[in-house]
Amino acid sequence: MRVLSGIQPSGSLHLGNYFGMMKRMIEYQENSELFCFVVNLHALTSTFDSEKLRRQTYEAVCDFLALGLDPDKSVFWVQSDVPEVTELTWYLSNITSMGLLERCHSYKDKLAKGIPASHGLFSYPVLMAADILGYGANLIPVGKDQKQHVEVARDIAIRFNNTFGETFIIPEPDIEDELAVVPGLDGQKMSKSYGNTIEIFGDENSIKQKIMTIKTDSTPVNEPKPIEGNILYALYLLLLNNDEKEALKDRFLSPGLKYGDVKKELFAAIWEYFAPYREKRAQIARDKDFVNDVLRNGAEKARKVIAGYMDKVRHNVGVDYFNQ
Ligand code: ADP
Ligand code: TRP
Repeated sequence: MRVLSGIQPSGSLHLGNYFGMMKRMIEYQENSELFCFVVNLHALTSTFDSEKLRRQTYEAVCDFLALGLDPDKSVFWVQSDVPEVTELTWYLSNITSMGLLERCHSYKDKLAKGIPASHGLFSYPVLMAADILGYGANLIPVGKDQKQHVEVARDIAIRFNNTFGETFIIPEPDIEDELAVVPGLDGQKMSKSYGNTIEIFGDENSIKQKIMTIKTDSTPVNEPKPIEGNILYALYLLLLNNDEKEALKDRFLSPGLKYGDVKKELFAAIWEYFAPYREKRAQIARDKDFVNDVLRNGAEKARKVIAGYMDKVRHNVGVDYFNQ
């Protein structure tokens, strides 16, 4: 089974990215064929600073490698190193209806956040469909907010196959319900664009300060605390095993728990959880030759796979006039 997912290099990666998608995706490298990439072409829809894009692309790559993505067990590359994907986007664009894209929530959400309306932003899901279909992926691990985009990729694949003959595998989204949405400091979805994130590789003081600002309710200390919709509780659960989760639930449901104490514990738990990754990240970020080699090899492997599909796609749409 081929598993594929990507992440935009549009800011520092946070706990929502990690628990919503990266952790699960990295685990797939043990028993599936994992294709993982940093989608810098998608980031162009909202990043207009070339220096920043280069830096953030490199940082996202280092983050993935530090968090356990193993380039020997997976195919790992930067999206723009495989130009075939933009060619495929064009073939797909012509069988994608305006209505399908107009229904995408993510486009409307991005406009509401102030990202300028552009053709690239509108057709973002078509490039994403090319990412998925061009590599023949079966399963796409993403957070809940990306589910609709995977459904668009399915619709495009079906339409293409119906129009031009069997070409693409129909992909499935892979979303873990329990972790579907990691809440941010304010209780909304944790997201770079809401400024409510806890960064995976943030510095000690900034993480500590951010945790202290997590919104809590005003239940008195000597009363049981609500767990439904409790941000502190939801974030702490992410770091615990099953027994520890049960113990935490008991503590919340018993009188006496102080939110201030739990915030300190949560900080310690986050800091400890990512400690080994933090060390590895510092090492990797210093070794540019290693990182560049990994990406060169990854792009080469990815190109071989998409090239196999492109011959068939070019033939099926009829741009291979020289073959008649
Ligand atoms: P952001 O909202 O911070 O810009 P992205 O849109 O770049 O994050 O998301 C990258 C990946 O991480 C996607 O698969 C997305 O679904 C997942 N993800 C992001 N934030 C969360 C969250 N708060 N909870 C669960 N998954 C998330
Ligand atoms: N749109 C995804 C996001 O913002 C990133 C992405 C681009 C992606 N291409 C993909 C995810 C292909 C899965 C598969 O998170």
